[in-house]
Amino acid sequence: GTNQQYEFIQVTEPRPGVGQITLNRPKALNALSTPLITELNHALQSLQSSPTTSAILLTGSEKAFAAGADIKEMAPLTFSSAYTQSFIESWSNLTQTLKKPLIAAVSGHALGGGCELALMADILYCTKTANFGQPEIKLGTIPGAGGSQRLTRAIGKAKAMELILTGKSFSGEEAERWGVAARSFAGYEELMSESLRTAEVIAGYSKVAVQAAKEVVNKSQDLGLRDGVEFERRVFHALFGSEDQKIGMRAFAEKKKAEWKHQ
Ligand code: CAA
Repeated sequence: GTNQQYEFIQVTEPRPGVGQITLNRPKALNALSTPLITELNHALQSLQSSPTTSAILLTGSEKAFAAGADIKEMAPLTFSSAYTQSFIESWSNLTQTLKKPLIAAVSGHALGGGCELALMADILYCTKTANFGQPEIKLGTIPGAGGSQRLTRAIGKAKAMELILTGKSFSGEEAERWGVAARSFAGYEELMSESLRTAEVIAGYSKVAVQAAKEVVNKSQDLGLRDGVEFERRVFHALFGSEDQKIGMRAFAEKKKAEWKHQ
């Protein structure tokens, strides 16, 4: 359950329906070691299966969302050890099976794997001064948790190539301007309160509609336009089979607040 004690993360419920995961390895700027990722996977799965959680907020500290994969853990790896344990593959589980919306609130460093983790979220919010980047090239390696793919889809090849080849950072303000972040905020307090507010808004809607909305938007990243539009239409049709569609449209006609079935 959500009260599970973890070593490297904290799980709380700051608002009804909102599960918050706070990365909490301050001495290493939330470097994403395998034990931390294992805890994060566990917490996300618990929140996914918790009937009381409707939206998930993932954050770090004011100073660091996460400064990357754990360099000290990676340093001694060999090709065969990385290959045979499929190092980093467990990161793909983080969001692949997550049907509930995930909001990342990023302040401070979001570097390497930290940037990649933020890019896995459904909605990314950050401070204007957040420090994003894929500095792996400086370590003699490359992004390994989807950065070259997700960043390139988010900001285009020209900018992604420059960032990944130079290892140069970009700010939260740039992240918003380039469409990586949905919004950027002047300060940390504002980031956290607005992230919570958005999570709460989403948690107030029909769960079945929210899950469907996330599913169809994510499909746009994998499908061509024709197939994507067709997929969307099928899911749209399917929602006419949900009670919440009846509840929502009836409430509109009666000028009342919808009381969702699947809350
Ligand atoms: N892994 C392990 N430890 C890390 C770490 C990381 N990614 N990032 C920071 N730390 C540790 C530091 O080693 C230091 O520990 P000690 O006190 O024991 O020395 C502690 O966190 C504090 O860090 P700094 O003293 O360096 O703090 P700073 O404020 O001077 O600098 C920083 C902050 C610019 C973020 C700097 O820590 C830094 O450059 N970190 C590494 C960033 C990086 O290269 N990330 C990419 C990792 S590779 C990757 O992620 C692969 C992938 O694609 C999955």
